[in-house]
Amino acid sequence: TTVESSAPSGRTPPPVRDWPAHDLDGTDFDPVLADLMREGPLTRIRLPHGEGWAWLATRYEDVRLITSDPRFSRAEATCRQVTRLAPDFAPRPGSLAWADQPEHNRLRRPVAGAFTVSAMKRLRPRAQAVLDELVDGVVRDGPPSDLIERVLEPFPVTVVSELMGVPAADRPQVHAWTRQIISTSGGAEAAARAKTGLYGWIRSIVRAGAHSTGEDVYALLGRAVSGGDIGEEEAVGLAGPLQIGGEAVTHNCGQMLFLMLTRPELMERARARPEARGPLLDELLRYVPHRSTVGLARIALEDVEVAGRLIAAGDAVHVSYLAANRDPDVFPVPDRIDPDRDPNPHLAFGNGPHFCTGAVLARLLTGLLVDTLLDRLPGMRLAVPPEQVLWRHRTMIRGPRTLPVTW
Ligand code: HEM
Repeated sequence: TTVESSAPSGRTPPPVRDWPAHDLDGTDFDPVLADLMREGPLTRIRLPHGEGWAWLATRYEDVRLITSDPRFSRAEATCRQVTRLAPDFAPRPGSLAWADQPEHNRLRRPVAGAFTVSAMKRLRPRAQAVLDELVDGVVRDGPPSDLIERVLEPFPVTVVSELMGVPAADRPQVHAWTRQIISTSGGAEAAARAKTGLYGWIRSIVRAGAHSTGEDVYALLGRAVSGGDIGEEEAVGLAGPLQIGGEAVTHNCGQMLFLMLTRPELMERARARPEARGPLLDELLRYVPHRSTVGLARIALEDVEVAGRLIAAGDAVHVSYLAANRDPDVFPVPDRIDPDRDPNPHLAFGNGPHFCTGAVLARLLTGLLVDTLLDRLPGMRLAVPPEQVLWRHRTMIRGPRTLPVTW
């Protein structure tokens, strides 16, 4: 029998819903996404840029299936203008996010060693030293202090530069470029100039690493290029997102700390039970609405039945990890922050081959941040009413722009 007769393709497809880019404040769950979750396990969406529509999967099981099944291809999506949130679309060679197997494995291999659990154990004392120095400055200058500017922004960027092997003398420039690229205020032109600068710099440091014996990422990439495992442009395409990846920690932790600062029961619990902070941070990872709308699409390479509907070969598909993290079948009372939630198999770092490269690093940085801030700033509380905290607008990754605290 044909796929058509075994899958309920005769059903009318769901309507295509526009999903405009709303500027959401605080940690509110996107109301459009909430509607889409109610409307069906599988809906159809149109985002502000790109062309046409895409399927959207919101249920945990469907999201897991789509993100781990090779019949859904990232590489195929680079040949199309799939409907998306981002105005620009310029996948680079070497980009992990757009590679399918076996390319994805070939590209990942040179850098994977730098992001393992044991590599993160080695990094920990250096990361703690970076953080201590930043918090020393905060304590020295006294309250009030903007945690974003003084700690949450410089900390991940500096640790990532340690791990990548950015020479001390180049750091101010590299950090200025990354800040410009991720800033929402500088405009597209400034961001494009910063990208050209950063990628040019990466090219030269990868070249310089050809015969290095170091274990930092640029040394690993330099050797992989000189050994012929990956091309030079691939090395540049691999390194760029890693160099910028710390941004996710700034904004995700910004949301976490805002939640802790505005919900006394969470802060009290974190202070009273340091040993239970791990599960609390996991629950916050599940709950935090990390991004706006959805990320990178996939294309169905063949007809696939999902949630009783036929996704046809060639159709574009988005998944929402945020929605999957609120699936009531997996997370009872999903809109409630429950630090005792167990098990908590959230998908905050994605799923399948594209699972976040920096997940272990992100957990390390988040844990150190919460431990150190709670320890060094006893009585830490917001220095302004919660509704006066400013939030990032017109952005892929949501988070507070400032987090003024006093203690
Ligand atoms: C991919 C979340 C921090 C590097 C991803 C994905 C998610 C995610 C949801 C996409 C999975 C997919 O495409 O299906 C987060 C969160 C972070 C964080 C919530 C912080 C709390 C970081 C850091 C780095 C990083 C610190 C690097 C320094 C990457 C890279 C990818 C990725 C390179 C692409 C992986 C691939 O496609 O193979 N992350 N991330 N992330 N992340 Fe993260």
